[in-house]
Amino acid sequence: LRLLEPQLDSCNARLIGEVASGKLPFLNLPFRSSLTARLKALTPQLRRFKHMVVLGIGGSALGTRALQKAFFPQQDLPNHQGPWLWILDNVDADVLEAQMSTLNPEETIVVPVSKSGGTIETLAQYFFMKAWLQRALPNTWHEHMLLVTDEKKGYLREEADRHNIVSLPVPDHLGGRYSVLTAVGLLPIAAAGLDIDQLMAGAQRAMEALSAPDLDNPAWQYAAARNALYESGKKVELLVCYEPSFRFFSEWWKQLYGESEGKENKGLFPASVEFTADLHSMGQYIQQGERLMFETVVKFAPKGEFIIPNDPANVDGLNFLSGKPLAFVAEQAMRGTILAHVDGGVPNIRIEIPEISESVIGGLLYFFEKACGISGYMLGVNPFDQPGVEAYKKNMFALLDKPGYEEASKAIKARL
Ligand code: PA5
Repeated sequence: LRLLEPQLDSCNARLIGEVASGKLPFLNLPFRSSLTARLKALTPQLRRFKHMVVLGIGGSALGTRALQKAFFPQQDLPNHQGPWLWILDNVDADVLEAQMSTLNPEETIVVPVSKSGGTIETLAQYFFMKAWLQRALPNTWHEHMLLVTDEKKGYLREEADRHNIVSLPVPDHLGGRYSVLTAVGLLPIAAAGLDIDQLMAGAQRAMEALSAPDLDNPAWQYAAARNALYESGKKVELLVCYEPSFRFFSEWWKQLYGESEGKENKGLFPASVEFTADLHSMGQYIQQGERLMFETVVKFAPKGEFIIPNDPANVDGLNFLSGKPLAFVAEQAMRGTILAHVDGGVPNIRIEIPEISESVIGGLLYFFEKACGISGYMLGVNPFDQPGVEAYKKNMFALLDKPGYEEASKAIKARL
């Protein structure tokens, strides 16, 4: 990795230059204490509701879900304080109908989240939920809605102004996949009882710790290792976790790296697995299938006091497990797996962190975002655009007969 130090240095300097010119606000977000103050002021009002329905997609949903599942995997944990959180990030009639038929509008707040304010999937759901609220609450429906969108432009911004709906801004120059530490991710999760001060304090500590311009910096190490492995012929990076509650963090991570680096016919394909569960489905391929992957293992410290009880009859011969903590069994599963996979030609990067707490997860979010910027520059792509996402949107607009797409509509319909 030492050989890559000069390249890391110039990519890091480029990133710092972009931040200084105001183009990459995500790297400075932890400083924005005015946002957390506003969110905390809003939280008591939000907690009056029994349900919160978030409408968003991609970067406007995945970070929120990652945090929700990491901290409130069953929704009804004792530290869950506010409304039940429902995140709708698809255009599925069954899901939408189920939500509208089971929730009571009087007890519900709907939170459409869209940076552009014009994403079809989100707006389609918005129209349904707005009409649902308006039917039940003709005079007060707008008090059951809170918009998170661009401060100045877009359809949702117009809606906020037109109907006097409370709104929170998504900062300028911020791609959705880098927006979890703004109102996009923080609002729903603050309402649900997460300590956003701790989350942001963790991000801020990471910001300071990851500013060192050398290879002791973990963001540099990660960016360098994954680029070196890519150069050596690996095509897939598997993010591995051993905690079921971390599974959705991986979904956020996949978007972050996939959308930031997958362009110009380049980029590692980001995939994820949850061990040990997925060892019983994907383990065979990882061990002996095509040698195209490496693993990044995110490992938290062992936890829990469960001790495996003794079975005096020892009918199944498994008493060698008796008296051992479950966490110890999980630890040995991880150690055995890493060894087996490395022996099988799957290199491992290990990220070791203490526990799933707000400050640790805030730091981890920041770590992956910063490393992604450096890594994308190392790869030679712009990690902050997503031109490829437009292709399907153009086809969809044409197929939906959006005004201005008449020619494209004819051409595309002739091909189908
Ligand atoms: O990361 C991104 O930019 C995208 O995934 C967007 O978040 C997603 O397309 C939704 O966009 P918007 O927030 O404008 O509705």
